[in-house]
Amino acid sequence: MNPKQLVGEKATEHIKEGMIVGLGTGSTAYFAIMKIGEMVKNGLNIKGVPTSKATEELALSLNIPLLNISEVKKIDVTIDGADEYDSHKNLIKGGGGALLREKIIASITRFYVIIADKAKGCDILGDFAVPVEITPFAKEITINQLKALGCEPKFREKDGKLFITDNQNYITDCKFKEIKNPKELEAKMNAIPGVVENGLFVGMANLIISEDGEGGILQI
Ligand code: 5RP
Repeated sequence: MNPKQLVGEKATEHIKEGMIVGLGTGSTAYFAIMKIGEMVKNGLNIKGVPTSKATEELALSLNIPLLNISEVKKIDVTIDGADEYDSHKNLIKGGGGALLREKIIASITRFYVIIADKAKGCDILGDFAVPVEITPFAKEITINQLKALGCEPKFREKDGKLFITDNQNYITDCKFKEIKNPKELEAKMNAIPGVVENGLFVGMANLIISEDGEGGILQI
């Protein structure tokens, strides 16, 4: 089985009847959502909360009942992907540009399950540039303030234009050498006025499920 499918389907074992389920974004979360669609088709009664417009479309195409975020106070389980993770289950997310909605949904989730390749595991975060969602207004000032934290920020582009998030903001990918204190860096980036949110998810994940490279499952 495709490793992404393997971990995606494994994560759905945490979903039970009547739950509110956060639906992640990306190519790994895709397989979890496909499986949830199948479970719903077979009679499971759950309600989903999508982390992006793309996921919302996918979930609707599978007839997964969805809640509007304004109706939601707590989410039982969220299943989402990640771009990098360490042994403390700290994450870099936002490779797909959905980090703001993903983090809001993670923040009200009781059990946050991450599904990701073993190759994304590391000792110290920082190989992957941290995606930071910033306001279009005064983007140059924000970039300079991010640079002062010791990174090389690069505007994300799509089809030759600046990438625009579901929230009508920009993403700048910030490459640091090593992120020794992700909690501190997360707070410093968010203290910049033009930063809406950043892709460091510290102390949020409860479980990381990855494939061991030989068709088995690793869980931390
Ligand atoms: C989107 C994300 C994704 O979960 C992350 O980029 C991993 O994606 P994939 O499973 O396709 O590698 O954070 O904003």
